[in-house]
Amino acid sequence: MSNRPPVCLTHRMELIIRPDQEAAASLVARIVASEVRANPRAVLGLATGSTMEAVYRHLVQMHKGSNLDFSGVRTFNLDEYVGLDANDPHSYRHFMNEHLFRQVNLDLHNTHLPNGRASDLGAECRHYEKLIGDAGGIDLQLLGIGKSGHIGFNEPLSALKSRTREKALTPTTIKQNAPFFGGEDRMPRRAITMGVGTILDARRCILLATGEAKADIIAQAVEGPITSMVTASALQLHPKATVIVDEAAAAKLKEKEYYRWIFANEPEWQEYR
Ligand code: GLP
Repeated sequence: MSNRPPVCLTHRMELIIRPDQEAAASLVARIVASEVRANPRAVLGLATGSTMEAVYRHLVQMHKGSNLDFSGVRTFNLDEYVGLDANDPHSYRHFMNEHLFRQVNLDLHNTHLPNGRASDLGAECRHYEKLIGDAGGIDLQLLGIGKSGHIGFNEPLSALKSRTREKALTPTTIKQNAPFFGGEDRMPRRAITMGVGTILDARRCILLATGEAKADIIAQAVEGPITSMVTASALQLHPKATVIVDEAAAAKLKEKEYYRWIFANEPEWQEYR
């Protein structure tokens, strides 16, 4: 018999506010490290985007400075652009190789991203779901949030039960990510993304958002209604979702004092205070 409390007693979304971007990213990295130390064969769901760079920097430091061991870890990324080769410097495979995979002792065979160059994209999406299932599901899923409210590339109106599939990107997302490509006309219009349902199947979800540009969308996702117009709001349905923000991204939240109290007092957060 497991001595864990039944899920119905622990079911919740939590919001944690840290003073700045560095402190927020460091908290996320420490949670990942503690998962990997407790379970050396952990299956991690990973995210890309500029917000995640600081998290990976902290993980690399922990690998180099305190022997955080990734040798048994398996990873699945949320998404990849359609049409980009793994060697393309704009691909998410390239991003992950540079920021994390090649800097720690992860076996590249244990790292997975959808193949945006597959000849049959539908088959590739089904295969990706099967690989996640064969690995036993995702233990800890990292998430960022786009200005459109997306998690992965689940743009507005993505079904909350959706699985890995091809998705057209919204103008908001194209505008947000175009600077990485040197202009909107150079950016792919489609991506393969884990579905909202795929993400909700992860045993734990951690969403990180920093900076004032994310303040509006974080308030909608956390304190607004659950809606396919803001797919991050689906995390309100998850049994163990934690949203970690800095003060700037917390600016529009109504219940800031309550969230601060949680971090300062709940026993679960003691080791991180
Ligand atoms: C891309 C990814 C998302 C990520 C978002 C955030 O759109 N598909 O998964 O959440 O970027 O990007 P940034 O951290 O650069 O704001």
